[in-house]
Amino acid sequence: MIPQAYRQHYAVGAFNVTNIETTQAVISAAEELKSPVIVQTSEKALDYAGFDNLVGIVLGMAKKSTVPVVVHLDHGRSVDIAKKCLTAGYSSVMIDLNKLPFADNLSRTIEIVKIAKQYGASVEAELGGIMGREDYVKNSAPRLTDVGEAVQFVQRSGATVLAVGIGNAHGVPMANEKLHFDILEKIQKATNFPLVLHGASSTAASEITKAIRLGVVKINIDTDIRLAFSTALRKFMHANPDIYDTREIIGAGREAIYHVVAKKISIFNSIGKA
Ligand code: G3H
Ligand code: ZN
Repeated sequence: MIPQAYRQHYAVGAFNVTNIETTQAVISAAEELKSPVIVQTSEKALDYAGFDNLVGIVLGMAKKSTVPVVVHLDHGRSVDIAKKCLTAGYSSVMIDLNKLPFADNLSRTIEIVKIAKQYGASVEAELGGIMGREDYVKNSAPRLTDVGEAVQFVQRSGATVLAVGIGNAHGVPMANEKLHFDILEKIQKATNFPLVLHGASSTAASEITKAIRLGVVKINIDTDIRLAFSTALRKFMHANPDIYDTREIIGAGREAIYHVVAKKISIFNSIGKA
């Protein structure tokens, strides 16, 4: 999925899911638009739903999908959780060790890559820090990826893709959030490697297009899904105070997510690439 996107200059959307409805919405939008898609679960989502429950949902739906679906661990913080997901059947894991010194981040990533290879799975690593909060992961200030370190990392780690810190932030927009495209361009020129953009909710379509041009092939979206879901539920319940069928209420949220995901897929230029 990733090499093809890199060659053809589009990005695959990686959407965070937490339950049946979010997973249905993401996969059905991808199917409708004939786009490949990445369904990702954070450690907190796995804790919330129960590991086996959420894994059962995502793997079950991925298997039945009419488009290619990668099931991915988002922001895994340890070798253990990555191993657990690989054993369960995930086709990709992220190991987020960006707070460790470079040498430790590299050596543990190499360890995970070795394990992932046994499963034929991919590995996403991270260099540089992404501001804001994404479930269990938090950074108060941006740490821009060092270009020289990125070169060494992609040459030695064996990772499939690299998440970079270019001023991007998780969650709702932050005051000091600003994408440094000059750094992204330098990283891309120096590494010639597929890159990942985290914290892409609320990012303008023009900026996404520019990032894709500069080698971004995987784009992570969570907050826009949460906002769509919660806004739709609030609206629905306000407009229908007598409805208590939870399926109708949550169904309004599922539909809202579907539209958000479809819009992102179109911006990412992956329509018809399945
Ligand atoms: O890892 C997930 C993301 O980077 C999502 O970021 O919540 O800002 O969309 P977001
Ligand atoms: Zn992230």
